Amino acid sequence: MITSLRWADVDLGAVRANCARIIAHLTDGSHLLAVVKADGYGHGAVKVARAALDGGATGLAVATLEEAHALGSLVPAEQVLVMGGLTIDQARSASAGGWCIAVSSRELAAALRETEEVVPVHLKIDTGMGRFGCSPAEAPGLARFIGDSSRLRLAGTWTHFASADSDDAMTRAQFERFIEAMATFEVDPGRRHACNSVAAFRHPEFGLDAVRCGIAIYGCEWPGMRPALALRSVVTHLKTVAAGATVGYGATWKAPDKRRVATVGIGYADGVHRARSNRGHVLVRGRRAPLIGAVSMDAVTLDVTDVPGALVGDVATLIGPDGDEQITAEQVAEWSNTISYEVLTSIGPRVERRYSE
Ligand SMILES: Cc1ncc(COP(=O)(O)O)c(C=O)c1O
Repeated sequence: MITSLRWADVDLGAVRANCARIIAHLTDGSHLLAVVKADGYGHGAVKVARAALDGGATGLAVATLEEAHALGSLVPAEQVLVMGGLTIDQARSASAGGWCIAVSSRELAAALRETEEVVPVHLKIDTGMGRFGCSPAEAPGLARFIGDSSRLRLAGTWTHFASADSDDAMTRAQFERFIEAMATFEVDPGRRHACNSVAAFRHPEFGLDAVRCGIAIYGCEWPGMRPALALRSVVTHLKTVAAGATVGYGATWKAPDKRRVATVGIGYADGVHRARSNRGHVLVRGRRAPLIGAVSMDAVTLDVTDVPGALVGDVATLIGPDGDEQITAEQVAEWSNTISYEVLTSIGPRVERRYSE
């Protein structure tokens, strides 16, 4: 039997508990839509979606039609929102799935209208993100256009915050623009939703009918949440190097004195960003071992001089707990000059996902 060199332990119980915690934080009447795009932020979309629903989520959100399709019959199709932008051609085939489709323009709405089925749509208003969405001024007309069509049903109206983590004034202004735009609708806006995780945490009063939480259900970026994923690999080689010896591509690390160096079987092809070269730690035997040298495609190297008894075969924890120590995705993000979202979604297909409750 071949055992994996690299794996992610995914704790579905954590996802369930995190969802329940988010729901407890929301104002009455606000539902949780669990965002499971990008294969459930790298955790495995179907498993995570099931756990989130068990934890009280009443809907799921994905970015693409393929992702919606991959959810199969986990929930009635109308409980799945496809948030991403679609091409006109895609719109023509989108109706068959029965999912709620995000609409940002009259062209897309018109294309959806050409289909056989009645398509539930969520009208997106751009209140400051500048990405998808119609302008607040266009929104009432587009809502009427949707409402007037026998092939479309306005199931929801939504917006997305640009800086909910860093700019309260902007978030509040976006929220007000959203509410003002809907106040001019001549039709029922359907389910109104605006918040992502950080907005739901900081502004439960902006919860409206639903919030769309991703990162928090995975246990990140929300105080007190349980991280759902641990990323692990194995020490495949150990050596003692003399003072002055270099390690890795570019010889960017030089031993200051005699050192014990461990090679671990996970690299940038698995989501350990190259920006982490010579930065941060990996846990071995419950100790923090500095990552030394450049990250390779399939391996990283650690200074395990201060890890007593380190052996080939030892588990190396890149994210998650080991003994009394813990490395979070947020910490890894800092070392990698990125955000926890990218750390999680970069975990590659060679990393086996192992699930526990
Ligand atoms: C439109 C939209 N809503 C909600 C989310 C979930 O955001 P978060 O993971 O910060 O909760 C995302 C994620 O990128 C998104 O693009």
